[in-house]
Formats: sequence, structure tokens, C-alpha cells
Amino acid sequence: MAANIPQFTLNTGYKIPSVGLGCWMGSPGGGEIAEQMCKTALQAGYRHIDTAYGYGNEEYVGKAIRESGVSREEIFLTTKLPNHHHHKVKESFEESLRKLGVDYVDLYLMHWPQAYTEDNKPIPYGRSPTFVETWKDMEALLDTGKVRSIGVSNFSIKLLEVLLRETDVVPATNQVECHPCLPSVDLKLWCEQRGILITAYSPLGRPGEFDGKPVFLDDPSVVSIAKSHNASPAQVALSWGVKRGTAVIPKSQNPERIKQNITLLDLTDEEMAALNEIHLKPGMHRSLLRYHEYSGDGTIFGWTYEQLGWNMTKGGIVCSLD
Ligand code: A2P
Repeated sequence: MAANIPQFTLNTGYKIPSVGLGCWMGSPGGGEIAEQMCKTALQAGYRHIDTAYGYGNEEYVGKAIRESGVSREEIFLTTKLPNHHHHKVKESFEESLRKLGVDYVDLYLMHWPQAYTEDNKPIPYGRSPTFVETWKDMEALLDTGKVRSIGVSNFSIKLLEVLLRETDVVPATNQVECHPCLPSVDLKLWCEQRGILITAYSPLGRPGEFDGKPVFLDDPSVVSIAKSHNASPAQVALSWGVKRGTAVIPKSQNPERIKQNITLLDLTDEEMAALNEIHLKPGMHRSLLRYHEYSGDGTIFGWTYEQLGWNMTKGGIVCSLD
């Protein structure tokens, strides 16, 4: 049975369950572990699964869906266009459909605004294929009937302003890193005002990845709210995310945590207010993802923070209140 959780309505009219299963396994692939994770989640009542071409596990996600006993129509399935396919949207989309073994996806996202060459070299900001050109090719997919909604991921207000000015279809969602250390208040408001739903990736802050210890899951406010609900810090973070109007897509391959993550708490206004302030504590307003470390020159997959429109400095530290 589907879990009893809120749904959001996209600007296309389709509904999206507020909690989905993230399928990034920490490195590309995951194979049968990813397949089992999806089956366990579907059994536990998840009806929203988020994968990507770049996660390297679309075949296994598709197999899990087919063998789960849950009908395809009941499941909201997202996949994403990889950077090195920006110049061949239709071909890449068809390949994802084939790998997933489905006739349609519910949501197709441009994974990043940056394009790469076919052999994975970042194409400088502003050069073709630009994200505007790629988005126009994604718009054309809507006519095929094989995708219900299209959206973007990792887009800032600066890039969305260009996209909305130069193209016809307003993205249904913008999937970005979002959690109590990075609530992206301005971006969320800007998107809400234009009917774009924020989907929060890494809503748990990827505990274990950041210097090997969770950051906000250990925060005293989160821990005390969790205790008062007899629940876990992760449930507090996810419930906060949903109550503030974002979809959340935690990844877990652990059956107990999979169940926990789709059991939302009813947080009070005072608890929401305390959670809204976590990023204001010293050292807390930041991204918690490792891609900030990959290049020493302050670029993310080839573009500077300024080109991306991300209000951050090296390491993913937010420059001013957002
Ligand atoms: P696991 O798969 O062993 O449960 P995010 O979705 O923010 O990127 O975080 C994913 C990470 O968080 C994974 O390492 C996952 O490990 C862990 N995780 C998932 N659910 C929980 C939870 N309820 N409590 C603590 N850690 C969790």
C-alpha cells in the first residue's frame, strides 16, 4: 500500500509524492543492491523513485519496478539527462527509457546546467550547447508523450531567469541540494512564485560523507526535537523539508531506515522555527557535498560559482544569508 504522505501538484497538473527514494549509491552503479533497495522501498509504500542516467543503475531500478508487484502507473519515476549528452537529448532520453524498460517517465531533468563533450570534458560557460538550447530539445520531448513533466537540477535564480526568458516551458521542478544547513530560502521562494517545485536532494546532508560525521543530524535542536517525537534526527530533517513545501528524496539501502524515512512527523510551528535557524549557527551555512573539493580552482564541473549563480565560496560555504 502507498504510504500516507502528502503529495505536491506540479505545474503540469501531475501529482508527485513528497517523499521519494534517491538512487545515487555514492558511486555510479549499485547493481543488485540498488534493485533490492527499490523493491524494499516500494514494499514500504514509496511511490516516487529518483534515478539518473549518470547513476548507472537505470536497468536495476526498472527491473525492481517490474518485479515489485506495484503497477507502473502508481509510481512517479524520475530520471535525468547527463552532462555529456546535452547535444543529443532525444537519443539519450530513448536510451534511458530502454534501460529502465518503461514506456514513459514522469519527470525528466537536465541534471546540471553544464554541458560536457561526449568524452566528458566540461564545455565553458556560454558555449554551445547552452542550457537554453538543451532545454528547447527537452521541451520537444513533451510532444512524444513519453515524458509527463520536464525540469532542471542544480539551477540558481540567475540561470532560471535566463531559462524562463528564452524558452517556453517553465520547469516543473528544480532539484537542488537542500537541508537545514542549506535551506536556500531565496531560491525556494523565487521558484514557488513561478510554480516550480523544489525537490531536495541530499536532504539528510549525506551523513558519513562530510569528514565522516553527520553535520545537522547531530545538532542539539534536531536531536531534542527527535527525542520529543520518539523518532530519529533523519525523520525530523525530512519532515521539516516536506512541511516547508519541498519534496525530499533520501537514499537508504537499509530496510529500517527506508521505513523510517517515509514516516513523517507532525512538527509544531516552534519546532519548524528552530529548524529554520540551524543554518544561522556558526559554520553551519554550507553545502555538505564533496563535489566542491574535486577541483582546486573553485569550479564545479567546469563552471565557477559565479557562472553557476551559486552564492558560495570554495568548499561550498555560503557567502551571505540565503
Ligand atoms: P544507508 O543507505 O546505509 O541508510 P542523502 O540522501 O542525504 O544523500 O543521505 C544518504 C546517506 O544517508 C546514506 O549514506 C544513507 O545510508 C544514510 N541514511 C539514510 N537514511 C538514514 C537515516 N534515517 N538515518 C541515518 N542515516 C541515513
